[in-house]
Amino acid sequence: MKGLILAGGSGTRLRPLTYSCAKQLVPIANKPILFYGIDSMTTAGIRDIGIIVGETGEEIRNAVGDGSRWGVSITYVPQHAPLGLAHCVLIARDFLGDDPFVMYLGDNMLEEDLCGLVAGFGQDPGRDADARILLAKVDDPSSFGVAAIGPDGWVERLVEKPAEPPSNLALVGVYVFTSTIHEAVRAIEPSTRGELEITDAIQWLIDHGNAVEHRIIDGWWIDTGKKDPLLECNRLVLDTITPDLVGEVDDLSTIEGSVQLSGGATVTRSTIIGPAVIGADAVIEDSVVGPYASIGDRCRLEGVRIDHSVLLPDVAVSGPLSITDSLIGRHAEIVHRGDDDRHRLMVGDHSTIEIG
Ligand code: DAU
Repeated sequence: MKGLILAGGSGTRLRPLTYSCAKQLVPIANKPILFYGIDSMTTAGIRDIGIIVGETGEEIRNAVGDGSRWGVSITYVPQHAPLGLAHCVLIARDFLGDDPFVMYLGDNMLEEDLCGLVAGFGQDPGRDADARILLAKVDDPSSFGVAAIGPDGWVERLVEKPAEPPSNLALVGVYVFTSTIHEAVRAIEPSTRGELEITDAIQWLIDHGNAVEHRIIDGWWIDTGKKDPLLECNRLVLDTITPDLVGEVDDLSTIEGSVQLSGGATVTRSTIIGPAVIGADAVIEDSVVGPYASIGDRCRLEGVRIDHSVLLPDVAVSGPLSITDSLIGRHAEIVHRGDDDRHRLMVGDHSTIEIG
């Protein structure tokens, strides 16, 4: 079985970060989201992985390389514009050949690994399925693809982001296909939003007599494409880390709970409350960090209280300041000057600032 990871797209919902960083490379617990998907494929025994890349392709190639770090082979498939998930299958035809494959949306994170979710595909002695979709029960399915299951347990209907969802079963961004999907993606037309929708391609399979099966996932699943779900995902992943203190902690500092402190990081007159991760060469002084804080490499925090936040590398914050529920991009600088109560800002396009 091959793997196809979708890491193109525009990332508009994570602006301004995505002006300079692919949304699939935003870190969760200091590791790019995309790497969790590659890890998961590797654990499931998939060794041949294609990655769809768009305008942030170079950054993704630099981060992922040839796959040798995971012991897998990576083939990059450039997409000139984000023309839809089914378009990604269309352009990956040469890479995929006639093999069955798992398609994985590069901004999705799942608690379960892929092993159980892909196991047994194509081995049903009763009726072989041409696709398997994963579903999660959600309160508001209208911002996802939504599935309706027939009385026989097979998938009957799929609709993309419906105003009136036919069920509470949202499509999780992992799909398993046989090569029949290639016929479907060639046959469908772009949707009203101008994209070749994978939901339409799967509906085409159903309408042409092919069986589509489903699994309802057990663990958590997050589409990290917006700030709050991304922070929630960071919280869930930090809950699973094992403590690892490599950096230096002075005698006036305390470390509570699960904390990872990378090499070259220094903690001075501070308290770190786990779960928290602090990247290489970060400098933490007179601060309280955590719980649920991911601090990137080379960040500098002075007089800061910070929790439930993700800082990308090279952020500098100088307090006294209290920060929560925040996602801060690379090389951002936040300084409390304290000479008057006016804020002086240079803020990137599409930024959000909430002042307490
Ligand atoms: O997250 C699950 C949802 O993902 C499903 O419930 C929906 O049925 C499915 O259409 C998809 O919806 P999104 O609107 O969240 O998809 P998004 O545009 O965010 O793209 C998902 C990933 O695929 C993301 O990593 C970017 C990449 N992508 C997207 C498009 C449209 C590409 O590589 N190329 C593309 O043309």
